[in-house]
Amino acid sequence: NGAGSEGQGSKADQFSRWGFIMAAIGSAVGLGNMWKFPYITGKYGGAAFFLVFIICLIVVGLPVLLAEMAVGRGGRGSASSSMVRLSGKKAWGGFGFISIFGSFMIFSYYAVVAGWTLHYAYLSFTGQLFASNDFGATFGNFISGSLPVFWQFIVVLLTAWVVAVGISSGIERFNKILIPGLVALLIILVIRSLTLEGAAEGVSFFLDPDFSKLSPTAILVALGHAFFSLSLGMGVMITYGAYVNKKQSLSGAALAVGLGDLLYAFLAGLIIFPTTFAFNLEPTQGAGLVFVVLPVAFSAMPFGAWFGGLFFILLAVAALTSAVSLLEVAVAFVMEKWKTSRTKAVWVTGIIAFLVGLPSAASAGGAVDFLNFGGKSFFDWMDFLSSNVLLPLGGLIVTIFAGWVWKGAYEEADLTPGWYRVWRFTLRYIAPILVVGVFLISAGVISE
Ligand code: PFF
Repeated sequence: NGAGSEGQGSKADQFSRWGFIMAAIGSAVGLGNMWKFPYITGKYGGAAFFLVFIICLIVVGLPVLLAEMAVGRGGRGSASSSMVRLSGKKAWGGFGFISIFGSFMIFSYYAVVAGWTLHYAYLSFTGQLFASNDFGATFGNFISGSLPVFWQFIVVLLTAWVVAVGISSGIERFNKILIPGLVALLIILVIRSLTLEGAAEGVSFFLDPDFSKLSPTAILVALGHAFFSLSLGMGVMITYGAYVNKKQSLSGAALAVGLGDLLYAFLAGLIIFPTTFAFNLEPTQGAGLVFVVLPVAFSAMPFGAWFGGLFFILLAVAALTSAVSLLEVAVAFVMEKWKTSRTKAVWVTGIIAFLVGLPSAASAGGAVDFLNFGGKSFFDWMDFLSSNVLLPLGGLIVTIFAGWVWKGAYEEADLTPGWYRVWRFTLRYIAPILVVGVFLISAGVISE
């Protein structure tokens, strides 16, 4: 097969079959599953929303996931050069770069939040977290100090080290060790939350469908989250796809990743809702849920310091395996663009990402309020621009590319002729229209 067309790395440095699936699941399963998914599910009708999410995942998520993997394996390069190579048109390099830029932005603040989870694991295991009952103040003090920068540095260093080691002995090995650990932690925590007194109320809130809350907006929110959750639109699956063996079935891999992500989201809901309901807490979202609301529950349950510690380790693992995938997108691009070694590319990218992340680390605590504008902090802007603007844009670009531009998609995607027609129809018509809707809502062009 295409010898000499290997865009990056040595030819031997590829994923194994399982390694690829683990790494892709590691990327998909992240902070989003725990602090966004349960919240939007609660807000938009519980099980009814969950059902819509599953439909979005199957009908749009999987086809786009498969498209990204195929573009990567076909193009054998970064998210930018793969599209140039497959289309023969330079302009696609610029479109591809949008997602590389976006994933770099996400990485810069994602590392900050991953650092928070590590600090909280430490606080919980040592019991320091429970020294005061005012968890809002504890969190506020923490993020306005300098400790977050220390932890951000640790996360960037760890991620950079994994990426620097390479694909099979770095990224693949990291995921192969951490993902089974993640599953074990998840099982422990689900059992803990389901056996809490009053857990049933939380479960029924999560799983009793309320179809009256379903609106067109809810559907687009579900779809937008399906994209974020599967790490689509940010060049991750293209970049990982470039290291996949030609013999591997991509549709099988896409299915496994979709299932893994869905299962994790479901179990995350079975942790968050029973735990918050058992202690009469409000299941909110984001940092508030994870760092302020849940500690109340941990402080009140037997062995809560341990369960809390394990919970934050779970979050850290989920975040680190996603961070690794985000960094690899930029590293692959730098290696290829400036023809440098992996190590050098990691150094350069890692240092810049750390620096770009600094204002995010500082702004969450209000230290750089002079950077605020339009009612958003630096951190909020990074999150908003990358996940709400660049991500749907990147998703739109890749669907148009695989649906309309790239003629070799059929061979790469190894689908039966019937499924291929379904896939292409989705990529050509359904996905782009819906993604434009997601974009209009998430970018705030039309209001929720
Ligand atoms: N999928 C990750 C999550 O759900 O937290 C986040 C993410 C990773 C988004 C990589 C986008 C991406 F490219």
